[in-house]
Formats: sequence, structure tokens, C-alpha cells
Amino acid sequence: MTAILIIGTGRLGQACADVLQSMGTVHVLSSADIDIGNPESVAQMVTAADWVVNTAAYTDVDGCEVNVKKAHRVNARGPGFVAQQCTAIQSRLIHISTDYVFDGTGSTPYRETDPVAPLSIYGHTKSLGEQSVLSQCSTAYIFRVQWLYGAGGSDFIDTMQRMGERESEVRVVADQWGAPTWTRTVAQSIQAVIAHGSIPPGVYHMPSTGYTTWYDYACAIFQKMPRPPVLTPVPTTAYSRPAKRPLNGRLNGETLARYIGPLPHWKPALLNYLESR
Ligand SMILES: NC(=O)c1ccc[n+]([C@@H]2O[C@H](COP(=O)([O-])OP(=O)(O)OC[C@H]3O[C@@H](n4cnc5c(N)ncnc54)[C@H](OP(=O)(O)O)[C@@H]3O)[C@@H](O)[C@H]2O)c1
Repeated sequence: MTAILIIGTGRLGQACADVLQSMGTVHVLSSADIDIGNPESVAQMVTAADWVVNTAAYTDVDGCEVNVKKAHRVNARGPGFVAQQCTAIQSRLIHISTDYVFDGTGSTPYRETDPVAPLSIYGHTKSLGEQSVLSQCSTAYIFRVQWLYGAGGSDFIDTMQRMGERESEVRVVADQWGAPTWTRTVAQSIQAVIAHGSIPPGVYHMPSTGYTTWYDYACAIFQKMPRPPVLTPVPTTAYSRPAKRPLNGRLNGETLARYIGPLPHWKPALLNYLESR
């Protein structure tokens, strides 16, 4: 029986808990149970697991610009404490990272070997977190994901639907590129990695197949709405936000696909999710 410990009860943590329970015993730790920024808490709570899946992070991208210390504690140092403990108890570690480690100036989808150059405190601290994981645990996997949606927390879909009910026109950024990815798909991919058993450790990109913009993503969300609002494409510069976002956030997922196959295309996956709600 495989023992899996999931850290974090946010959107991805919940999806992992649902999907991975078919593989063995699953234990989930919330922020009330563990503080990954505190090494004693990590040593006390991360015990006796074959696999540890760390989904915990300080994910408020704009908030990180203000709460810089917290961002370093949770996103940069915390993953290192988890990785150190995984090495000590000989658990395999899966740690989740982000496309925000890149600056988005490239014109092609980023590969795992491309140099990182984060634009924001969130991206910078997540990148430091990757380095701490790699230096503390030689068998860890780091999966970079992006544009997550799914049950268990407010996301872009909820925001669009809320705005669509209230407003006749919704302005959406049309020059940032990425792949909307269902948390369930990420959880199933993690399941496939665990089941595979011999994928070399290291950093992998885990995006849905295909790429789009926030604007086209919004169009797809409203596709089946009886009276959708007018959607107006706008440039990123139309919104002033504390944290800079990469324009080209596209991740090349070919390396991992060689082992577990490509993730589903973002659009049918999104339509499936919308129908399942
Ligand atoms: N959401 C996205 O679009 C996206 C994109 C790229 C990468 N990612 C990465 O994917 C992972 C999962 O994201 P998500 O969307 O599931 O995030 P989420 O919904 O914000 O969940 C994060 C979880 O981490 C917990 N947490 C925060 N600080 C903690 C601490 N010090 N100790 C223990 N737990 C702590 C939170 O608990 P509380 O709620 O109680 O604070 C929450 O349960 C993260 O690594 C994130 O950086 C997400």
C-alpha cells in the first residue's frame, strides 16, 4: 500500500487528495496542521510517507509584492525544509512550481532547460524554492504548472462568471499566453508519474496541451452562457497591478509527455469541467 502525504488543502491539494486516494493511503495536511516555513513543524508532521506532494504555497501573486518576508518564508525556504525532511525519511517528493519563474519575453514555449528570470516576488521566491528543493533532495520532482482552475477556491472562471452576471461588458487581457489547466488533470498526471515509478527526478513542465490568451479563455468560458457579456480584448498595460506577469507564459510539456503522454487539450478539458459543475 503506497502512503501519500499531501501538503496543502487549496485547489490543487484537494484535487490531489481526490485522485490519489485510489493509489493507497492518503493523508492531507492543512495550514492548521503544518507550517512549511517552520523546520520543526515540518520535521514533526512529515513522517512515514512513500510520497510527499507539496502543493502548499503563498499564491497571492500581488500580495507577495507587499508581504515579501512571507513570500520568502513560504515559497523559498519552506520547500527546502520539506525537501530536507523527505531526504531524511527517504520519501519521494513532488513539489509544484510555476511558469512565473520565466520573464515571458521568449517567442516560443519555454523548455525546462531555459534560464529562469522571474519578474515578480512570487516568481522569484518560487524559483528560489525550486533551487532549495533540488539542493536538499536529489530524488525530487518539480512540476511547473500554470493557469490552474478547479473546485475548492476562487479562480479566473469564477471571476469571469461573477463579472458576466453583473456587467454587460468585460475587458480581458489578450496579450498574455498560457494554457488553462484543470487541477484534476495535474492530479491525474501526478498519479501517472507515481504509477510509472522510474521517471528520472528533476524539473518538468506540466501544462495542458495547446495555448491561448486570457481573452480566448474567457470566450470559451462564456461559450455556453445564454446571455454572455460583450468581451473586449485589452493589453496587459490597460491594468496596473503590483506584480508583473510574463506575457509569454507558454510551457513546453514535451519532456514529461514522453513518459506519461500529453495532458488533455485545454479547451475540451475546460468544457468538461464547466459541464461537471
Ligand atoms: N493557482 C494557479 O494558477 C497556479 C499557477 C502556477 C503554479 N501554481 C502553484 O501550484 C501550487 C498549488 O496552488 P493552488 O492553486 O492549489 O494554491 P492555493 O489554492 O492558494 O493553496 C495553497 C495552500 O497552501 C497552504 N499554505 C499557505 N502557506 C502555508 C504554510 N506556511 N504552511 C502550510 N501550508 C500553507 C494554504 O493554506 P491556507 O489557505 O490556509 O493559507 C493552501 O491550503 C502552488 O505551489 C502554486 O504556487 C498555482
